[in-house]
Amino acid sequence: MINFPLDTVYLESVDSTNSYLKRIIKESGLSKGMAVMAKSQTAGRGRLGRSWLSNPRDTLCMSIGVKNDYAEGFTLLAALAVYEALKPFCSDKNLQIKWPNDIIAENKKLCGILCERVDEYTVIGIGINVNDKSFVSEIEHKATSLYLLSGKENDVSDIFKAVNSAFENVLTKYDFAFSKDAKEAYTKLCANLGKSVATETKSGVAVGIGDDGSLQIKSGDEVFNVSSGEVAVHNIY
Ligand code: BTN
Repeated sequence: MINFPLDTVYLESVDSTNSYLKRIIKESGLSKGMAVMAKSQTAGRGRLGRSWLSNPRDTLCMSIGVKNDYAEGFTLLAALAVYEALKPFCSDKNLQIKWPNDIIAENKKLCGILCERVDEYTVIGIGINVNDKSFVSEIEHKATSLYLLSGKENDVSDIFKAVNSAFENVLTKYDFAFSKDAKEAYTKLCANLGKSVATETKSGVAVGIGDDGSLQIKSGDEVFNVSSGEVAVHNIY
């Protein structure tokens, strides 16, 4: 199966674009890669079983489904693609990636990514704050948007198109793998590195990214790898 260019689907409202794409894959598989966007979601899902809150029409809720072999570090590659797509819309504001795949600016979250594996496919769910001017109180202090960063409104479907072409470019460039070159590009953008970080049970300083996309944390004389879960970073939301 050839993934690109992606087929596109535009929805008014859906429970979750990830769930929608997973249902299509389960029912019939995909004959090409597919990108779905919805103007609103009623049951958006985030990483680690959390829910994902979005402002209807202002937040871009989208998912991309591609057929690929399971690849460790793929979720970091997805962050690289979204970073490439969003950079031109941020008026020179410094964008970074908070491990594993949040896109951040000014220490606040601009975009979250949820990758889910279904059969031989990966569904990459992407939530991007585009024209949001404010957020519900739970996330107000830690969220930002392209509008808040640049002072400009964007057509949400233009951002959708930009993300779709960035995925085509980045996944083709790195051949769907978290290769040495992808790791080098990711490392330059990773906001965790050199900072004090904490997992639920340990803390230390983030010192590197493993070949499998794990975060390497130095605690005393020991370096340990974290490959899932939440890693808090000092001074970032
Ligand atoms: C996170 O930061 O926890 C990941 C958030 C991912 C949200 C997006 S919005 C579009 C897609 N559909 C979902 O239900 N979740 C993802």
